[in-house]
Amino acid sequence: MARRWTNTLTAADVTPKATFLNRRQIMAGLGGAAGLAGLGALPQAAQAQELEPNSWEDVTTYCNYYEFGTGKGDPAKYAGQLTTSPWSVKIDGLVDRPGDYDFQQILGEMTLEERIYRFRCVEAWSMVVPWTGFELADLLNLAGVQSGAKYVAFETLYRPSEMPGTAYQVLDWPYREGLRLDEAMHPLTLMATGIFGQDLPNQNGAPLRLVVPWKYGFKSIKSIVRITLTDKEPETSWNMANAREYGFYSNVNPEVSHPRWSQASERRLGGGLFASRQDTLMFNGYSDEVASLYDGMDLTKFF
Ligand code: MTE
Repeated sequence: MARRWTNTLTAADVTPKATFLNRRQIMAGLGGAAGLAGLGALPQAAQAQELEPNSWEDVTTYCNYYEFGTGKGDPAKYAGQLTTSPWSVKIDGLVDRPGDYDFQQILGEMTLEERIYRFRCVEAWSMVVPWTGFELADLLNLAGVQSGAKYVAFETLYRPSEMPGTAYQVLDWPYREGLRLDEAMHPLTLMATGIFGQDLPNQNGAPLRLVVPWKYGFKSIKSIVRITLTDKEPETSWNMANAREYGFYSNVNPEVSHPRWSQASERRLGGGLFASRQDTLMFNGYSDEVASLYDGMDLTKFF
């Protein structure tokens, strides 16, 4: 498998590859002069070095995972009973090598570099999480994306015997999400398998979940069992539940209000009720990397 991440920086690596690499070195404390030299190229979100990650406690006890209940504390209480091994992911649709891919086998194929990101994941709150994982693109390339594919659809496990929340039709199960193919292939789009250098806890989507750092949190579908390459925009759970409030794209955009609240500012989770609000950044601070994906699109229409 081709490695798109290298350990040597050259002038040709300016951005975005060097950006990520520098960030990784800085975060891992290996940066020194080499890492800091590239600081000017870092996206705003990554430049905010003072951005400390949230605590393990915050990240693992204040969760959204409706299959285990709609309360923020429900996933931590009930997801422990989920069986996550063995685990396989069906990859089908417009791919050359469809099939059931065993999770351990996937890990063996991937260039798992303990890559550490500090993503700000914004929804009604924001969190800074050091994720580990691999690029979704690497997994899609393993299956061989066919030229007709335009979108990627994802599905979460639906196992009522272990998921008490699925007894309630708050969403149409299984939980579904989707990306356009170019979004899915972007190097910032992560298949997360861990946080803080440890395996993902069940409540955060073990054994593998999506992380799309420039989109709202609900795009980060957990405990994925199926990935389908398709030529049609896939249905997504929140859009099916309320199309007026949740669009397919779900890009972090301070200029487009949710029908019931402004999205222009955010408060870091864990900062306490009186923590100061900060301005939300376009594409969550990753404009330099991803804005071009949406050139010419009316983002008030494609929200
Ligand atoms: N994935 C599944 N399967 N079910 C869910 O209810 N909630 C989403 C997303 N992924 C959800 C899901 C929402 S609304 C958010 S904000 C994030 O997971 C929260 O991720 P975290 O709990 O790890 O912070």
